[in-house]
Order: sequence, then C-alpha cells, then structure tokens
Amino acid sequence: MRLQGKVAIVAGAGSIRPGMGNGKATAILFAREGAKIVAVDRNLDAAEETVGIIKGEGGEAAAVEADVTNESEARKMVEETVSKYGRLDIVFNNVGIGLGGVGLRVTEEEWDAVMNTNLKGILFVCKYAVPEMRRSGGGAIVNNASMAGFSSHPIYAYATSKAGVTALTRSLAVGLAKDNIRVNCVAPGFIATPMVDVLMGEQRDHVIQQRVPLRRHGKAEEVAYAVLFLASDEASFITGQTICVDGGLSAL
Ligand code: NAI
Repeated sequence: MRLQGKVAIVAGAGSIRPGMGNGKATAILFAREGAKIVAVDRNLDAAEETVGIIKGEGGEAAAVEADVTNESEARKMVEETVSKYGRLDIVFNNVGIGLGGVGLRVTEEEWDAVMNTNLKGILFVCKYAVPEMRRSGGGAIVNNASMAGFSSHPIYAYATSKAGVTALTRSLAVGLAKDNIRVNCVAPGFIATPMVDVLMGEQRDHVIQQRVPLRRHGKAEEVAYAVLFLASDEASFITGQTICVDGGLSAL
C-alpha cells in the first residue's frame, strides 16, 4: 500500500451535491492505500458520507466540521487530527469555489468570497499543518489548482485565485523544503463532478467535444490518482510542481 502508516487531512472531502467530487474520491483512494483520513468539510453531513464509504471498505477515517477560511477552525481541525491519530503526514487542500458574475459583472462580495475560499483556506491550513508535519519528520501537501489558472476563464475571480494557488504552491515548496515538506498542485481540466455540473450546466458536453483533445471529461478518480502520486513517497524528489489532469487541454 502506497500510504501505509500515514495520516492525511483532506480539506473539502465532501461533495456539494450527490456524486463523486475530487476531494471525496481522493479521501477514498488515500484510505484504500493505507492512510488514516481526517475528512474535513464545512458541511459535516458531506464529510460523514465520505467517512461512511471509507469505513464501509474497511478503512480508517474521521469526519471534522470546519470552515478552512476561518483561522481558528483551521487550527482546530489540525489539533483534532493530531489528538486522534497522533501525527500528520499529508494534506490535500481541495476546497475551492467558482461562483460569481461573469467578467466585470463580478461584485466585490463575490470576488472576496472566491479569493478567501480558494487562497486563504490553503494558507490557514498550511499554517497549522506545517508544525505538525515538522514533528513527523516531513510531509506532503497537495493543493487543488485548476486549468482556469493557466488560461482565460469567464469567472475572473476563479481564474485569478487558481493562478494564485500555483504561485502559493511554489513559494511554500521552496520555503518548506528544508523541513522535508513537499508542496505540489494538481490542475484539473473538465472533470465530471457535481461542481462542474453547477458551473457549466448543459453546455458541458458540447464544450468538451470541441476543446478537449481526449474528447471526454475526466473523472474525479483520475484527479485522485495524480494527488496520490504527489502525496506518496514515489514523488519524493518532486516539489513546487503542477500536474495537469486535463485530457490534453494544456498541450493545445
Ligand atoms: P465540491 O465542490 O463537490 O466539493 C468541495 C467540498 O468543499 C464541498 O463538500 C464543500 O462543502 C466543501 N467546502 C467548500 N468551502 C469550504 C470551506 N470554506 N471550508 C471547508 N469545506 C468547504 O468539489 P470537488 O469536485 O471536490 O472539487 C473541488 C476542487 O476541485 C476545487 O478546488 C475546484 O476549484 C477544483 N477543480 C475542479 C474542477 C472540476 O472540473 N470539477 C476543475 C478544476 C479544479
């Protein structure tokens, strides 16, 4: 098993609607590979659903309710992890939202909500996770960026925040290398998750046929396998990098 003996936090481990999101799929895959999972979500029912699936497969997991944009809740989430499982080795920062008006129709409130969720959440989680990883002798952080951060996107706040995720990832990677903590990100393209259903609606299949070289959308499980690789010791000499999980979109 690729994560045997490791303790992992998956932030945003639920799904906003029924179905398989990137965080949920990753939490389940990590558990199959031997990690003990702390499934964090601001929606406790969603986190508990993920935990139920993991336990149903014989894995080990606990649900924690926390809003990662709130510094004290991010700290509490790390404290609960260490109090339950005694250490912390891996964090997958999956929380992200893409709401707001298209183009310049975005409101200040929407802009702030997207920036706070997509960037401040990662910062706060890292702030409290890193000291525990140091105590564990090192660790791996994987952040969920997006292809929207590499090209234009109609929701400006989303594209800008996701470009920020890759920038923050590089800075964290260099800053934490001396502590044997690796920091990388995945950049998913069009993945068939409940979030994309909300963002793209009926246009989704048409856009994918026109734009994605592999001519299909990806699955949350395909994102999860890239996260697993970056979180595992197989990626022990990789830090500050982004793996695009996008069916070839970024190669166009
Ligand atoms: P999802 O939206 O279904 O699940 C995310 C979970 O995060 C939800 O259960 C939600 O309750 C939770 N959450 C939201 N705000 C939170 C907060 N402040 N604190 C704690 N939990 C919070 O989405 P999914 O599929 O798991 O993926 C989300 C991530 O994937 C986002 O970062 C998104 O930007 C990224 N992404 C997704 C793509 C796709 O095609 N689905 C493409 C590119 C990136």
